Order: sequence, then structure tokens, then C-alpha cells
Amino acid sequence: MHVVRIAGALALSLAFIPGAGAQGLVVPATEKKIDALLAQMTLEEKVGQLNQYSSAFDVTGPAPSAGAQKVMYDQVRQGLVGSVLNVTGAEATRKMQQLAVEGSRLKIPMIFGLDVIHGYRTMFPTPLGEAASWDPAAMEQSARIAATEAAAAGLHWTFAPMVDVSWDARWGRIMEGAGEDPYLGARAATARVRGFQGGDLAALDTLAACAKHFAAYGFSEAGRDYNTVDLSEHRLRNVVLPPFRAAVDAGVATVMNSFNEIGGVPATGSTHLQRDILKGEWGFAGFVVSDWGSIGEMVAHGYAENLEHASRIAITAGSDMDMEARGYVGHLAALVKAGKVDVKLVDDAVRRILRVKFALGLFDDPYRYSDAAREKQAIGSPAHVAAARDVARKSIVLLKNEGGLLPLDKAAKTIAVIGPLAADKDAALGNWRAQAVTGSAVSLLEGIQAAVPSTTRVVHAEGVKLVTGPRNFMARSVINTTDRSGIPAAVEAARAADVVVLAVGEDAFQSGEGRSQVDIGFKGLQEELIQAVLEANKRVVTVLMTGRPLVLGGTAESLPAIVEAWHGGSQAGHAIADVLFGEYNPSGKLPVAFPRHVGQMPMTYAHKNTGRPGPEPGVTWSSYTDVANDPLYPFGYGLSYTTFTYSEPRVSAPEIARDGTLQVTATITNAGKRAGVEVAQLYVRDLVGSVTRPVKELKGFQKVELQPGQSREVTFTLKAADLAFYTASGKWEAEPGAFKVFVGGNSRDVKEAAFSLK
Ligand code: NOJ
Repeated sequence: MHVVRIAGALALSLAFIPGAGAQGLVVPATEKKIDALLAQMTLEEKVGQLNQYSSAFDVTGPAPSAGAQKVMYDQVRQGLVGSVLNVTGAEATRKMQQLAVEGSRLKIPMIFGLDVIHGYRTMFPTPLGEAASWDPAAMEQSARIAATEAAAAGLHWTFAPMVDVSWDARWGRIMEGAGEDPYLGARAATARVRGFQGGDLAALDTLAACAKHFAAYGFSEAGRDYNTVDLSEHRLRNVVLPPFRAAVDAGVATVMNSFNEIGGVPATGSTHLQRDILKGEWGFAGFVVSDWGSIGEMVAHGYAENLEHASRIAITAGSDMDMEARGYVGHLAALVKAGKVDVKLVDDAVRRILRVKFALGLFDDPYRYSDAAREKQAIGSPAHVAAARDVARKSIVLLKNEGGLLPLDKAAKTIAVIGPLAADKDAALGNWRAQAVTGSAVSLLEGIQAAVPSTTRVVHAEGVKLVTGPRNFMARSVINTTDRSGIPAAVEAARAADVVVLAVGEDAFQSGEGRSQVDIGFKGLQEELIQAVLEANKRVVTVLMTGRPLVLGGTAESLPAIVEAWHGGSQAGHAIADVLFGEYNPSGKLPVAFPRHVGQMPMTYAHKNTGRPGPEPGVTWSSYTDVANDPLYPFGYGLSYTTFTYSEPRVSAPEIARDGTLQVTATITNAGKRAGVEVAQLYVRDLVGSVTRPVKELKGFQKVELQPGQSREVTFTLKAADLAFYTASGKWEAEPGAFKVFVGGNSRDVKEAAFSLK
């Protein structure tokens, strides 16, 4: 058995003076109220505040038995439950709150949490898809609307945003984050925290947010969910942590730790992450919730002997609230009494949780969020639905458009809408769908039908089914690999049409938690359908609906037009039709690359150069012999119905001072015939570092709208501080030397200039 380390950082975190990272949660008057409450609480009541249960529905771990539910209700009445997740609805939350407030001695309200990830009832694109909008205002708006709906249903807290960077599309949960890049990830984290929390946690249309999973969950080995992570402090600090830091700086009220270990230490038991970095260095004043049962899982990890030991490790390491492991409620009081856990650790955790409850206004009125009238009016309002369509179309990425097949003519005589996802009303809702109504999305077929005049014939053929059997969070998708009976009708429809729209990809539950895959190509019989349709009609527009990037393989070459629509949410069908018919000129850019082959995983544009970047004649170099190194479609890539050209970038000075700034300017021209929006991207390369630096790193982006023929100068301001990284001496700072700077429309096609830092 190993020794549990009590961090020096505990003292630091308790003494921390509220600063940028303290999110306004530390209010002197409130701290006094918390002191008074703590003075009245028994040890058991204190531990109760750290205890979180799930109510019976929508569980993401083993479902609690009916007996466990009874235990939960009894404990709620005794003030031994601080929070419940998965209870929702104005009426249900009011009843549950009543148990705690009317039943318990100190009447401390509970905090109700739910995974409100990309909408509550009105669904927006899954977070990865939405990140393709490169539009922080859109991300903020969708989180704002999700919060408005969820708060009206009595909820206080969402387990979002997930800010895990991932370079591996095999990992099913890549759909839930902002993709492969820490800078874009940080921008998304800030926008989403602001959106959920608004300016005021006490407002009736905001939720406390939760940055998760702390940390490095997106780096699980081989992309297998929950798997081991072993990465350097260098990668942790430079790649994994920046979006968390951004969330903390934006005032996120809570953080969730993660299931994985890092370098032999489960994140839930990591003092380094939770106390030293989060609460110490960053001054985070909110609370850390464990992931579901992750305290108990330290036993399976081989890091704790039993649940008691795991609980001791977790509280010592800074995990404040125990989600569903029942370790704290079962063991913490005894551990304190036995002198194995300092009660100060418990007090600190309680204080952090109470801070958030006070900030939410729950002590003023514990029922303030549970309002049936507001619930009815706010949820699914026309304004929310309109926003869902707008955000969905901003998220769509045009990957290929040979011969200008797109946009389509609405007045085409016959459009065949084919494929397993063409008339599907569920996949677009995506995984992690909170209270979306099953089968409630606008299908692509419906979107097309609504868009065209009555003179245009729209013919539908499913072709093949993608999945058979149940489609829900708990069920593993069963892929259809045998039933080809619909292919002849699809071929017939394709042959008789002017143009084919072919909807293929992934069902909602093929990506998400526990959905890692080694084969991320077209599943089932979709490839056969694609080839059969192509033989009948070459004019095929392929609409991909996916949670993750797919490996399109050779199929991408034979398809003339490809649109990535992700799982686009409630209004997906209308949003896609807007793009297909040119009502909306696509401007989305990939937040993560589409690989050529699954064997390239993990991959990122921001890789290191290696000692053998090649190619060089007569030397073997760092490459595969069977597939190119680069992806099929790189990070930042996406086409428009117009074309944009970039001038060479110019820098405002050849050298910048240690505290200086640099302007990088390029002229962008709309060289096509339609108005369009371009996401101009700024990358830098630090040529020599005390630790090696990536070949490119995103440092800025701007969305520019240009009329046909119009040119505009776009200027990025780069501060010397933006060049900082976690150096060999363990400091976050910029190092002097030579840099390259790149401007372009994606991470591959860029033009460059140079400067140096004094
Ligand atoms: C487990 C997931 O990892 C986490 O992201 C989620 O918030 C919890 N379950 C609660 O549903």
C-alpha cells in the first residue's frame, strides 16, 4: 500500500485570494454564511454534501437498483445527499428538493445536474460538429439556449463543456469535444462556459457549467475508451490543459475529473492535477466532481485496495464530490474519526460545493428553478428552433465539390434522396441528447421536400439499413451486414433522377461514450450502396452524418461532392437543405482532420518535425510506406461555393520585444461569383525551443464575409505572450528566437512570413 500524499497545495488553495480564476464564487459575505453553516454541521452532514446519486433514468453506468433508490430517498431526508443527477422536469425536481429541504435538519438545498451537452430539448449539432463553425458566438448562443431550457426544467448544473483535446477519431467521445487543437478548444471552452453560465449563476436561465474530463481523457491509448494514458508533463501542459485553463478563466463553476490514469495515477486520485494545478496554480474556487463511480474504479485500476482506501485517496487528492461511487458517504466519516483523513479536507470540499449553491441562489429559494409555467414556455420555443437551424448550417463543412455540382438547382425535375440516413429522424439528434424527443429531428428528406417547389419530384429510397435493433445510449449498435433487399430500388431511383443526394455515415449511438472503434469507415453495407448508386448516376452529392471524422478511403475519389453535416440536431434536415440549394454558402472548417487511414491515428497537424522529416533522397524518413503522412482533409479545411485567395502575409516588424505585439496582415480576395464567408487562420512555428515545438500551431482565426470580387486586409495581432509554452524549466513563457508565421484557409495550404522574438 502506498502513502497518501497530503499536498502542500491544500494550504495554498484554502488561502487563495480570489483572482481571475476564482470566478467570483468567493464572496466574503457568503464565506461567512458558509462558516456559520459548517459550524452547525455534523461530520455526517458534511460528508453528505459531497455525496451525489443518480436518480433512476438515463444512467451512464450500472443502474442503481430499486433498493438503492430507497436508500437514496432516506438519505436525502437526512441531509446526506448534496446532489442528484438525472432528475429533470420542474415537477420532479421540486419534489426531490422538497425531500431535502423539508426533511433535513439544516435544510441545505441539493444541486441537480444533467448532461446537457448540445441542447436540452432543442438539439444543436453535437459539440465537435458545432466546433466546425469556428464561431464562438454561435457556440455561446447554443449553450445559452440549452441552459435556458434546462434551467426552466429545474436543473442547476450541466456536465459540460467537455473540453478534452483528442487526436484520435477512434475514440467515440471525440464527438463531444472541440477536436484536435488546444487553441480552438480553448476558444470553444470559453464560449460554452459563458453560454451556460451567462453573466450570473443566479439568473433563472443559466446553469453552472462543468469543464471535463480533468485530464487527458482524450489521449487514451489506441483510442479505446477509459484506457490508460501516459503522457509527458510537456504535452499535458501544452496540449491538454489550455482549454481547461480557459474554462477556469471564464469562471467555470465546476470541473469533472476523468476515468483514465495518467502515468500510473488515476486522474481521480491525482493530487498533481486537482490540488497542485487546478486549485493551486489556477486558483480554482469551485468544486471538482468525480466522474461516474471513478472513485471506486481506482480499485480496478490497481491503485486502491478497496472503496475505503479509494475514498481516502480521492478526497486527499482534491475530488470534492463523489458521483455514484458511494465511497464518501460510506467511508469518509469513519476515515476522519480514525484520523486517516483531515477534517479540513472535508470542510474545504463542502465549502466549495456550498459556494456554488449560494451562487445559484438556492439558499434564497431552493425551488426557484422548478417552474412548470416557465418550463412550458421556454422549452422548444420558435426562437430556439430557429437558432438550432442557423447553428447547424454554420457547422456544415463542404469537403468536395467537383465540377461545381453544388449548389443544386431547386427546379431540378427529379431529386433522388437515398441512403439509410436520408429519411432518418433520429441520428441527427446525436448522442448525449438530454431530453430530446426520440425521432424528432427534421430529416434530410423532409428538409429537401420543404425546400423545393411542387414541380420538383423528390423520390426516396433507403437502400440499406444502417443499424438494426435498439438505438439508445445503453445499446451497442447492431450493424446491418446482410439485408441488401433495398439496393435495387435505390439504384432505380438514382437512374431516374437528375441528381442524387446520398445520406450515409453513423447512427447517433455509434459515437459517444463507450463507442470506440477500430474501423471508422462506412459501416455495414453503405459502401456497396454507394458504389451501386454511383454506377446508376454519377451526379451524387454525398451527405455525411457522423459524430466523428470517418475514413472515406478510395470512395472519396469516386464521389464528386461530399458534405459533412455531422449529427446536426433538431433542425438538421432544413440546415442541410439550406446548404445543398445554396440558400446558405457553407463556411464550416474541420476542427479535426479526416484521416486517410485508421492506422494514422493518433494524428494532428501540430505534430513535431522529428529528426527525419524527409523526404530526402537516399535516406529513410519518418513516413509510412503505404499511405501518405498527411490526412485526406486537414484540420481547418472546408470549401465554399466561392473561392478565396490569400496574399503573402506581411509582418509589422521583423522583430518583437518580450512584451511586444506583432501585426500579421494578409489580403483575402473572394475570387468567385458568390458572396461567402472565409475562416482565415493564423499559425506560428517556433523554430527552436528548450523543448521541441510543433511544426504549426493555431494562434488565431477570423471570419471574413466577402462579396464576389471583393478584397479585404485581415490583420491578426500576435502578442509575445501568445508564443508562450511550458518550457524545459517548467515555466509558461515565450523563448527568444526565430519564428515562422502562416496565414491561410486551412492548416495545410498557407503562406508564410518570418519574425523573431527578442
Ligand atoms: C460518465 C461520463 O464520463 C461523464 O461525462 C458524464 O457527465 C457522467 N457519466 C454523468 O452522466
